[in-house]
Amino acid sequence: MIRDSILPDEQPCGDQRLAYNVPMKTPRRLQSLIEEGLIDKVVMQLMSGKEAAVYVVHCGGETLCAKVYKEATQRSFRQAVDYTENRKTKNSRKTRAMAKGTRYGRQEQEAAWQSAEVDALYRLAAAGVRVPAPRNFLDGVLLMELITDGHGDVAPRLNDVDFTPEQARAHHAMLLLQVVRMLCAGVVHGDLSEFNILLGGDGPVIIDLPQAVDAAGNNHANRLLLRDVVNLRDFFGRFAPELLLTDFGPEIWDLYQRGMLSADVVLTGRFEREFAPVDMDSIIREIENARAEEAARLLRLQSAA
Ligand SMILES: Nc1ncnc2c1ncn2[C@@H]1O[C@H](COP(=O)(O)OP(=O)(O)OP(=O)(O)O)[C@@H](O)[C@H]1O
Ligand SMILES: [Mg+2]
Repeated sequence: MIRDSILPDEQPCGDQRLAYNVPMKTPRRLQSLIEEGLIDKVVMQLMSGKEAAVYVVHCGGETLCAKVYKEATQRSFRQAVDYTENRKTKNSRKTRAMAKGTRYGRQEQEAAWQSAEVDALYRLAAAGVRVPAPRNFLDGVLLMELITDGHGDVAPRLNDVDFTPEQARAHHAMLLLQVVRMLCAGVVHGDLSEFNILLGGDGPVIIDLPQAVDAAGNNHANRLLLRDVVNLRDFFGRFAPELLLTDFGPEIWDLYQRGMLSADVVLTGRFEREFAPVDMDSIIREIENARAEEAARLLRLQSAA
């Protein structure tokens, strides 16, 4: 069980535990959830970063995690166009406002960012990806399963743990399978690293998904997937150096693009890039076509003037 206080002689799991000894007053943003009866008590603050503050809360005899999103103005690089490209809203007034950057547009953009994490959690949990089970989303607060270690304490991030080569190989293989399942569900995490994976009692759990991108609709999905896979390789390669020789990302993406990726795929970690001889004639033809099209466009513009 999560205890209400962490004694000073207990081992902190990561720098976030420094905040545990602070006496807990109900934060303003969690007040409405207490009034609605969704939370009984706020136990402690886990961390407060630029994008969100994360709390441990009690709720009907259960201990959950509450992620409270901060204001859009504090948002970091992750709301950049790479991630939000092709995110659709069904409401054209919202779309125009978001494009213009009006106050209303910024609020809508923020709501879209927060609900992207909630949507991704529901979608991935249904696809069998090991993410915290989502429970509720109200007033900019996401309530979800609290990931704990084998002793019932809050789980550390991978970055806070050392692994034997065997453990590193096993976790790396398990996480590649999660990446494949995510892609089969049409999602690329986009910020996967040792900082956004917790080591739960039953193995690694992937967190932090507001930037998750649509694999089919986002032009940066390929690049982001390759980066996610390289991050996993480089992290676990510190403990099992032979992993540094693997090249799973292009293999996964190639299978996905050819419609041949499935959750039970057997990966090799090798990928033969095909370097076909360059067909100079067809490249020159493409350039000539583009030049002719541009000349025709300019002519049309001149005659319309
Ligand atoms: N479901 C959870 N169970 C346990 N701890 C969690 C959970 N979700 C988040 N945390 C803790 O809160 C931290 C921040 O969560 P998250 O990464 O989702 O937010 P963030 O705003 O992106 O923060 P950061 O900028 O540090 O990545 C995590 O590193 C983890 O320690
Ligand atoms: Mg994070």
